[in-house]
Amino acid sequence: MRLVNLVTQWEDGAMPRATAAALRATAAVLAEVGRPLEIRHDVEVEAPRTGEVRVRMTASGVCHSDLSMQDGTMLAAVPMVLGHEGAGVIESVGPDVVDLAPGDHVVISWVAQCGKCYWCGRGQPQLCDVARSAMASGGLLDGTTRMTSGGTALHQMAGSGTFSEMTVVPAIGVVRIPEDFDLRLAALIGCAVLTGVGAATNTADIAEGDTVAVVGCGGVGLNVIQGARLAGATDVIAIDVNDSKLALATQFGATATLDARQGDPVSRVMSMTGERGADVAFEVIGQQATIDQTLTMTRRGGQAILVGVPAMDAMVSQPAFFGVVLSEKTIKGCWYGSSDVRRDVPRLIGLYRSGRLKLDELVSATIGLEDVNSALAAMKAGEVARSVIAY
Ligand code: APR
Ligand code: ZN
Ligand code: ZN
Repeated sequence: MRLVNLVTQWEDGAMPRATAAALRATAAVLAEVGRPLEIRHDVEVEAPRTGEVRVRMTASGVCHSDLSMQDGTMLAAVPMVLGHEGAGVIESVGPDVVDLAPGDHVVISWVAQCGKCYWCGRGQPQLCDVARSAMASGGLLDGTTRMTSGGTALHQMAGSGTFSEMTVVPAIGVVRIPEDFDLRLAALIGCAVLTGVGAATNTADIAEGDTVAVVGCGGVGLNVIQGARLAGATDVIAIDVNDSKLALATQFGATATLDARQGDPVSRVMSMTGERGADVAFEVIGQQATIDQTLTMTRRGGQAILVGVPAMDAMVSQPAFFGVVLSEKTIKGCWYGSSDVRRDVPRLIGLYRSGRLKLDELVSATIGLEDVNSALAAMKAGEVARSVIAY
């Protein structure tokens, strides 16, 4: 039997690099929207297929998008293994994977970037065609998933599913990193840092000396703040409703903080900028009210960058003449920090190593997978920058 398997594997070209067997893992599963995640110990993780890798997860951050899937703000196909901000070590590789091998340390890129489609070819790999259809399907690039529990297929959030000891992802959905880099911090690079720093350094066009406003200082917003400083902003006004977040914002480079509970943040940003408004304003929450505030606090000729993922029925509404034409405001969406992950992950690691990027300070708590529901609750309460699951 074993010999037959070996022969088939050789014929498939999968041997000796792939372990054909499914492996058992513990994973956090969203069985029903609005319910706590279920910790399941019986999850079977199939061997990687052509162009895929199986990754033993070392760490996964808990991001607001996980909460948005759990509470129904974002559309989730259930049952689904949540988690998309992760890092780990490759356990095996499927056929036709030539540039990755077992033992490689990797960050998960929850936008797989094919390098071949129209968008990748135009320097916008964050909009890659291949990743879009996978994300919509709740599976990997072919729409199917590699995890089952009790015989039922489990969807994988954003082609990832990092709330699991083990996952299978497309090879183009990981980025190799140096082995001596802390995988816990690497996990955070996978979403919060790429998105936040990228929003400031890729999506927006920040000029030396600009005044920037950041509405929402969670894991992503704190990275927008440090990214804005890296891009040359002199003044960064941080806005939040939580004292501990505002304190962290200062640590990450904010030069002024506003508590949005203490009165209208828009009028205070206006008065702090000679009634002009911010050169660049970022919304990093995803709420209708804060989107409206961000558009209003952006100066004439300035840029409003929308980073937070809103509910599906939220609208961008501005008076077309006064709000856009006469004011020449740019309203720009930001997906995954407009990141080219193969360019930006090494760049961020380099910035951290040279002391110009903070990562350790993002970790509010290191937890076990069984504590994921408490981590989601703490995020909902605005208490943490990031809880990081260590496997
Ligand atoms: N005004 C200002 N700040 C607010 C308000 C408000 N009305 N409401 C909430 N906040 C703050 C919270 O206190 C918190 O610090 O917004 C922050 C949101 O941060 P997190 O919950 O940590 O979310 P994060 O992971 O940073 O993600 C932010 O980006 O990637 C997307 O889906 C993600 O939409 C989410 C957004
Ligand atoms: Zn995320
Ligand atoms: Zn592409």
